Amino acid sequence: MKDSDFDIPVERRHTESLKWEQYRNKDIIPLWVADMDFRSPPAVIQALSSRIEHGVFGYGAAPQALTGVVCEMLARRYNWQVEPEYIVWLPGLVCGLNVACRSIGAEHDEVITLVPIYPPFLTAPKNSGRKLVTVPLVTAENRWVIDFEELEKSITPQTGLLLFCNPHNPVGRVFKRSELAELAAICNKYDIVICSDEIHCGLILYRDKVHVPTATLAPEIADRTITLMAPSKTFNTPGLGCAFAVISNRKLRKQFKNAMAGIVPMPNALGYAATMAAFSECADWHEALLNYLRANLETVSGAIQQMPSLSIAPVEATYLAWIDMRNSGLKNPVKFFEEAGVGLQDGIEFDGPGFARLNFGCPRKLLRKALDRMKAAMDNHNT
Ligand SMILES: Cc1ncc(COP(=O)(O)O)c(C=O)c1O
Repeated sequence: MKDSDFDIPVERRHTESLKWEQYRNKDIIPLWVADMDFRSPPAVIQALSSRIEHGVFGYGAAPQALTGVVCEMLARRYNWQVEPEYIVWLPGLVCGLNVACRSIGAEHDEVITLVPIYPPFLTAPKNSGRKLVTVPLVTAENRWVIDFEELEKSITPQTGLLLFCNPHNPVGRVFKRSELAELAAICNKYDIVICSDEIHCGLILYRDKVHVPTATLAPEIADRTITLMAPSKTFNTPGLGCAFAVISNRKLRKQFKNAMAGIVPMPNALGYAATMAAFSECADWHEALLNYLRANLETVSGAIQQMPSLSIAPVEATYLAWIDMRNSGLKNPVKFFEEAGVGLQDGIEFDGPGFARLNFGCPRKLLRKALDRMKAAMDNHNT
């Protein structure tokens, strides 16, 4: 796999793509929803082709070998010893967030999350009759951090669950072990279950950053943690709907499975096939992807510097840039950039008004074109 393979444009119009259909028949480059415009690794495509060639698409069952591959991957990457029975297969992480809310506590209990945040974190508590409590992340020395004091203040006897995202979408932080330990200590103190969404853990862009799964901090933290993971962001297979939870605490796992019963379908055969190939055969592709995304991020950062009223804090993971537009004087930045031919995602959806999220998971040429459009529009706006 060469880094330059990611330069090859793939036509996604008319392929039922959520990202591209949004601006059907419009000259707007879609840099919003979090999927990438790259083909999946060749091994994933090959595994899917073989499975399709078989031609029988009955009900799927999680292959034991796949659960073994997941356990082996977690041990290798994170030194995390996971027993096969801890794994609960899911058709997606949004589903997992909602099941977590339903499985912990009772109606009217409180669920805390740190904002800005991926929008389903804001809706999942309400979907299950829980009360959403938000605590803003803050910036310190141009880095997004958790305001532990504010977090602790917002905890009440009704707080049962924390929905946490690491690496963080949209701010791109890889939280350090010390930060995670402080967060976990608070959850321990107030007996709060942690649902840790780690879907972006394969997208750590710099070698000096490491992903620490929350559940690996200490046995008592593992005991109160529901971890959600998937190959879908890293290997660009979100449309195949295959994810999993890791829940070592038997009681929590039972509650989670009870909340799923009769509602949540198992992943399908194609999702399993893609996941197996992604986790076992795609290390080189993964490495090349990270190189490419890092260079794309540098392209984004360089371009944003040329637009003085916009800024971004350093992005450590994900292919998402969280752009601060509060000093731009733009009343509706997303509409403004759409009119300039670039489709961003509005910070309001993340409880982050004044910001917009830009997805840089696309061929660099397209990214440059979008950034040039943004720069021209800003120059025009400022004259
Ligand atoms: C933090 C986070 N969780 C979950 C999802 C979506 O997960 P799924 O497609 O598996 O429901 C996303 C997609 O962008 C995400 O960023």
